[in-house]
Amino acid sequence: MKTENTVWHEQHISKEQRASLKKQKPCLLWYTGLSGSGKSTVANAVDALLFKLGCHSYLLDGDNVRHGLNGDLGFSDDARIENIRRISEVSKLFLDAGLIVSTAFISPFLQDRASARAKLEHDEFIEVYIDTPISICEQRDPKGLYKKARAGEIKDFTGIDSKYDIPENPEIHVKTAQQSIQECAEQIVNHLVDKGFINISTNISGNLSNKEHG
Ligand code: ADX
Repeated sequence: MKTENTVWHEQHISKEQRASLKKQKPCLLWYTGLSGSGKSTVANAVDALLFKLGCHSYLLDGDNVRHGLNGDLGFSDDARIENIRRISEVSKLFLDAGLIVSTAFISPFLQDRASARAKLEHDEFIEVYIDTPISICEQRDPKGLYKKARAGEIKDFTGIDSKYDIPENPEIHVKTAQQSIQECAEQIVNHLVDKGFINISTNISGNLSNKEHG
């Protein structure tokens, strides 16, 4: 239907050329976790670290994207599926531009995360499970949403009356209740270094302090 009268155009500049100009290998850090788990906070810290290290990155954040591109979507299962489908397509375009992309969405369903993974090339999709127990998310309740959900003022709230599928085999498993934000961010950036997505000469803390003093 939608592709009936459209033809895919190959572009003159390839993804590899764009990536090589940026001296990095594009990848997608796909953060998943409950509301209040710390996805946005950790993803922002990673993005800031990458920026300091001279990498070209971009963060798509759940609440922000829902203000614009996905402003027409609510929180029914179908709306969440469409939310994640659009994000995965946008991410793919950003990867094509040679960027290291981060997405911070609850993305509660295994099936949708698997579909997002399947759209990319082998090893480009890096699932980052922000594993924070619901009791702690609820204690933090930064937006007061758990309180409203418990009072029945918000329906279909993840972890309360809408399901969250725990990642089965995430590439990175982060426990925000046991580590500082900086430690979580370094764990993730170190993974990118180890897997060859970015190239820096010393360890993260050494490199950052050198840059700050240099
Ligand atoms: S997702 O399920 O479709 O991936 P997304 O990450 O975009 O969710 O948005 C989640 C954010 O929307 C939460 O962090 C919270 O601030 C807000 N929100 C509002 N209503 C709900 C709800 N019913 N369930 C979960 N989050 C909600």
